[in-house]
Amino acid sequence: MRIGILTGGGDCPGLNSTIRSIYYKSKKYGYEVFGFFEGWKGVIENSGRLIELSDVEEIENLGGTILFSSRTNPFKEEKGVEKILDTLNKNKIDALIAIGGDDTLSVAAKLYEEYKVKVVGVPKTMDNDVYGTDYTFGFDSATTISMDALEKLRDTAKAMKRIIILEVMGREAGWVALFTGLAGCADITLIPEEGLNEDEFIKKIKEIFTKKEYAVICVSEGVEIVEKEGVEVDAFGHKLLQEKGVGNFIGKLIKDKLGINTRVAQIGHIQRGGPPTLFDRILTIRLGVKAVEMVKEKEFGRMATLINGKIDSIPLKEVLGKTKRVDKYWIDLKEVFEI
Ligand code: F6P
Repeated sequence: MRIGILTGGGDCPGLNSTIRSIYYKSKKYGYEVFGFFEGWKGVIENSGRLIELSDVEEIENLGGTILFSSRTNPFKEEKGVEKILDTLNKNKIDALIAIGGDDTLSVAAKLYEEYKVKVVGVPKTMDNDVYGTDYTFGFDSATTISMDALEKLRDTAKAMKRIIILEVMGREAGWVALFTGLAGCADITLIPEEGLNEDEFIKKIKEIFTKKEYAVICVSEGVEIVEKEGVEVDAFGHKLLQEKGVGNFIGKLIKDKLGINTRVAQIGHIQRGGPPTLFDRILTIRLGVKAVEMVKEKEFGRMATLINGKIDSIPLKEVLGKTKRVDKYWIDLKEVFEI
């Protein structure tokens, strides 16, 4: 048995730990692991190689991915699917484990449904927005970094009597901003699920600043604003939200309306690097092992998942096209800490 693996989409802490976990469990079963480089790009271009023990020993704490990643969409590439089928055949791949977020998994699901490719999905993304799993790995690590950044910004905001805005990643779901704001004690946290009501926001920040003489705001990059034209879009149709710059928009709004001393920090890709946290390491270890078990049991077209703290699996088609967004429970919890 030879299992192909790939890491697709935006990297996040925990990818290497997952690869290691898949390798070790495969070794127990006597399976070979063939790593494709740069996500679906490597499968299209037949670029990859067999993974050895020396590749994965002690990589549990390594950021990035030893397999590299890309946002390649085979369904947008000329003869993309044909090339994938050919590569899998040439390399005698019996099953494929795709480690990725919505986009990577949607390709896996389509390959399974329409072309009978034997795939298993493993959910990863710092955005934590994959439907059907309590948490995706990468989220805890990335959000621990932004929580730390927010606390540091509070020190300087307080010292200089300023309002500081921290813009965090997370795309259309507000999980990263919500957890950063909750754990890092933001005065206001703005998430896409609630949107921005400019008048209410200005009223609130004015009250806070009058009382404390400083404030920290955590804003998710996905909060909708009147944005500038021509923001770049990737192969899956997602806007490059950093370019949109919601943090700067809010900073300017405060300056224009209240004339208060304001600074903006965009944490960006700093959130994506470094070692995974304990939570993410254990999650990747469990998901990697489960994915190989799923291959053994021929549970294809499914995603390994964490549901109510237990490792399980669900059909990929149930995950497709759905985004796990911040719900009322979390919004209510956030409001407890807002003035
Ligand atoms: O999906 C993960 C993510 O980090 C988002 O939070 C962010 O909007 C996006 O990737 C950035 O994409 P890129 O890696 O292409 O800059």
